[in-house]
Amino acid sequence: METGEWKLRQERINLLSFLNRIARIYQEDASVLKREFNSRIKIPPDIKIEADSNLLNRALENLFNNALRFTRESDSIYLTAHLKNGEVLISIEDTGPGLTEAEIKLIFEPFYRGTSSRREQGFGLGLSIVKSIINAHGWEIKADSRPGDGTRFTPALISSAT
Ligand SMILES: Nc1ncnc2c1ncn2[C@@H]1O[C@H](COP(=O)(O)OP(=O)(O)O)[C@@H](O)[C@H]1O
Ligand SMILES: [Mg+2]
Repeated sequence: METGEWKLRQERINLLSFLNRIARIYQEDASVLKREFNSRIKIPPDIKIEADSNLLNRALENLFNNALRFTRESDSIYLTAHLKNGEVLISIEDTGPGLTEAEIKLIFEPFYRGTSSRREQGFGLGLSIVKSIINAHGWEIKADSRPGDGTRFTPALISSAT
């Protein structure tokens, strides 16, 4: 992705309907795996973003799948979105094991896998792909967490007026 061998296929998308659609899918996946799922999508109906909807979808799905995989039955997963200073802050948050400060510095590196994830399958590539997708759009993503207190990923998207 960093070599520029791929190109974003950007289009103007209505963010509220995009997020409502994925929230319905996440709700279904979460209930199959017995996670509590809650979404609070508080953005005006006319907000549009320039995005490659396939890639944005993949990025959010990666975050959601991590939330599913690193939690247990009856844990909670939240999808939220709100506007702040012209940005749309999306968050995918879970009540799973959380991460230490030291781990948070490494999780976006390709092939990094946390110590608590040995029982899970994976190659440690998901979050580096998520970050590449978000940055390719000119956006940023943050992670915060405390051990035992869950994990929250917050992609900040730039919206364009109507
Ligand atoms: N929601 C989460 N809760 C706890 N740890 C997480 C979460 N998401 C990611 N991680 C940590 O970040 C590491 C890297 O994630 P990722 O790049 O998606 O790789 P993978 O899922 O293949 O392990 C994971 O191995 C795990 O340690
Ligand atoms: Mg992953």
